[in-house]
Amino acid sequence: MDFALTEEQKLVQQTTREFAQNEVAKDADERDRSETFPAAHVKKMAELGLMGMMVDPEYGGGGLDSISYTIAIEELAKVDASVAVICSVNNSLVCYGIEAYGSEETKRKYLVPLAKGEKLGAFCLSEPGSGSDASRMKTTATLDGDHYVLNGTKNWITNGKSADILVVTAHTDPTAGHKGISAFVVEKGLAGLSVSHKERKLGIRSSDTVTINFEDCRVPKANRLGAEGDGFKIAMKTLDGGRIGIAAQALGIAQGAMDLAVAYSKEREQFGKSLSRFQAIQFKFADMETRISAARLLTYLAAWRKDRGLNFSAEAAKAKLCASETATFASQEAVQIFGGYGYLKDYPVERFMRDSKITEIYEGTSEIQRLVVGRSITG
Ligand code: CAA
Repeated sequence: MDFALTEEQKLVQQTTREFAQNEVAKDADERDRSETFPAAHVKKMAELGLMGMMVDPEYGGGGLDSISYTIAIEELAKVDASVAVICSVNNSLVCYGIEAYGSEETKRKYLVPLAKGEKLGAFCLSEPGSGSDASRMKTTATLDGDHYVLNGTKNWITNGKSADILVVTAHTDPTAGHKGISAFVVEKGLAGLSVSHKERKLGIRSSDTVTINFEDCRVPKANRLGAEGDGFKIAMKTLDGGRIGIAAQALGIAQGAMDLAVAYSKEREQFGKSLSRFQAIQFKFADMETRISAARLLTYLAAWRKDRGLNFSAEAAKAKLCASETATFASQEAVQIFGGYGYLKDYPVERFMRDSKITEIYEGTSEIQRLVVGRSITG
């Protein structure tokens, strides 16, 4: 087994790290406070080739492997989890599905601008009444000539306000359970599609999360991904890859919080010596580092399996489960090491603690990850 990064992966790491540390970090706290979408950073990510990293270069992507993607998301999340999730959603929840299941025409029309970062994507699966129980969605898509007519409400949509292109799931046959769900590419701006209710959140406040309504919204039949009835499996496969992205985001949050705490512990003196000289603090770092290393290995393993065409569903779930709970743990410990200062807005570490929690919830809660892993063991 080779744990060394390739030259290409090292270059991705270096480029993303420089961008994140030199540009994204500067205004991360201010964007968090003002809930401002980082449009300039998204533009720069497009220029750096970060918005369609794994897409075939023929469709405007970077043609990179999943480990490179994982590394890039981690570097972004080390300074700002909001920017990381915007990038992750575009790559793994939107570009993936269109590349894997779209027709040639759909790929030319929608994937190319998404992969180049000229357009932004969002993934519309969840609804007010169906989160974890995703197949219980109520949105319908009724065939009418050469269009599907969409009706329903999707919520918790990351990137939803700023996105130009959506991947949407809906029932084409509401009597057939999950086998009656289909997936579509839907362009913003279509009549009957509206964005409402921007959520006010604990964390990842500079990414937007909205509700999207469909009222007799006519979507060309040609925009369907895969066959009628394939939509639930497409969503599940999409989420397998998405969970690697969220694991990487969580890993970045954990590492970023720990880096801040290590630096602070070397500067801050109590009882005549720096905090870093106390075993009580060193033990905290030992626990954080051990859990971060385990999360990183699981995340890279899931990405490695994906790159080799092996089943990686359970590995992605394990990676997300471990990394997200590590992010919560490590960021809370980091705040503890900062003491009272950690509780203030004066230092970024409280933002990491707030941002960490969502990684245990979106793209499948920790309970759903346990369910996926458990089923992979017992069948
Ligand atoms: N790959 C391919 N197919 C899969 C699959 C996978 N990973 N997982 C399930 N399937 C298939 C099954 O094989 C089955 O097909 P057959 O009937 O042909 O055998 C079908 O899908 C139904 O599977 P289940 O019976 O296991 O379905 P379920 O109703 O029990 O649900 C679940 C399974 C794992 C709980 C699923 O509903 C789930 O993942 N829920 C969580 C949803 C989620 O993650 N939502 C996140 C929203 S997106 C988001 O957060 C994005 C954002 O903006 C950041």
